[in-house]
Amino acid sequence: MSMAASRPSPITNAPNDLEPYWMPFTANRAFKKRPRMVASAKDMHYFTPDGRKLLDGSAGLWCTNAGHNRPSIVAAIQAQAAEMDYAPPFQFAQPKAFELAARVAAMAPGDLDHVFFCNSGSEAVDTALKIALAFHNVQGRGSRVRLIGRERGYHGVGFGGIAVGGIVNNRKQFGSLLAGVDHLPATYNRAEQAFSIDQPEWGGHLADALDGLVALHDASTIAAVIVEPMAGSTGVIPAPKGYLQKLRAICDKHGILLIFDEVITGFGRMGYAFAAERYGVVPDMITFAKGVTSGSVPMGGVLVRKPIYDAFMQGPEHVVELFHGYTYSAHPLACAAGLATLDLYREENLFERARKLETPWAQAALALKGLPNVLDIRPVGMTVGIDLASKPDGVGKRGMAALETAFHDHDIMLRAVGDTLALSPPLIISEAQIDEVFDKVGKIIKAVA
Ligand SMILES: Cc1ncc(COP(=O)(O)O)c(C=O)c1O
Repeated sequence: MSMAASRPSPITNAPNDLEPYWMPFTANRAFKKRPRMVASAKDMHYFTPDGRKLLDGSAGLWCTNAGHNRPSIVAAIQAQAAEMDYAPPFQFAQPKAFELAARVAAMAPGDLDHVFFCNSGSEAVDTALKIALAFHNVQGRGSRVRLIGRERGYHGVGFGGIAVGGIVNNRKQFGSLLAGVDHLPATYNRAEQAFSIDQPEWGGHLADALDGLVALHDASTIAAVIVEPMAGSTGVIPAPKGYLQKLRAICDKHGILLIFDEVITGFGRMGYAFAAERYGVVPDMITFAKGVTSGSVPMGGVLVRKPIYDAFMQGPEHVVELFHGYTYSAHPLACAAGLATLDLYREENLFERARKLETPWAQAALALKGLPNVLDIRPVGMTVGIDLASKPDGVGKRGMAALETAFHDHDIMLRAVGDTLALSPPLIISEAQIDEVFDKVGKIIKAVA
């Protein structure tokens, strides 16, 4: 019997051998014993290979903000693939890259008016950190090499991102990371903040820790501070009231660049194009990814303020100004998908829709208060984190049990971060589907009690 004949047909959606695929951020052995597989999707739903319909409570991985398989995005990708599959982004370009950069820049606040494209949130973060270092360097401030992140921050998985990030499991196996990185304290305090909607009243003063780091290291050694305006991956932690404004003021005082990592918060999740607009603070750079193509084609990018771009546009014109970029920067398929996605956001007013849905979303979430093991519920924008008490025999066991029963028994996809359930539906969700989400989540919480 030939090797080929021993394998099931390759044209089925059903997996034939689970072993070779080393799954990312997944408990591989547990998954492969009882897989959670999806094979198709439409609007608010996924479908399993055997046709079971699941409500998408997490917009995939915080990214399908316009819903799944929207015909105009599908058509744009198909048309682009037929017209031109690829164009080199170094020293050459294709028109849609400029069009998308202009469209994204027009959505950004202040003078954040230039866009550097890459392919993921992790690349966006490492790009922003490199631009920050290079910006000081080209301005003759080569001593500004320190980068400041925050405890519990998530900035992807590149070496830059895990260095400024503050989630210990993402860091501890990977050596000494980048030198010269320090961290602000995390902003979450359950005793002071539990069951707040949006930004908690308590905690703005925690931004003063940046003054402490400046006193310790001296401003002349610090290049940039990077924070998520709402820290999603660690369990949905909005910045406290006044915190982002304070960071901005301290950075201004000391010539430090402020970077908002908006990989999750960008493109409508917080009811605006960017959380910077929601909270009225203009950073020096914004990283984005996910929602820019509604998850349909990988894409990321960095928005930079005009003075930063201008600082590089010096010297002889034949010389490359920034020695950085990716083979797939501004990939034609991603640009086509991005343009169609932005059209859809505009035509369907999805950011405004998210703003309107925020209140029923928060009310339905907070109605779960009092269910067994619920320690905190944090609705912000169209997302929420629900902390469950850990089981005595292990942190993360209850969260994992919730994710599993959600998928297998309650027909909903959600995220579990340790014992925190994180929800972030596509922004096309209806009010009836909001009720359906929290009805299911209530049953899941009881099932894992
Ligand atoms: C704030 C933030 N930054 C960066 C990333 C990394 O993005 P990616 O997984 O596309 O590399 C994420 C992913 O969730 C994120 O939430």
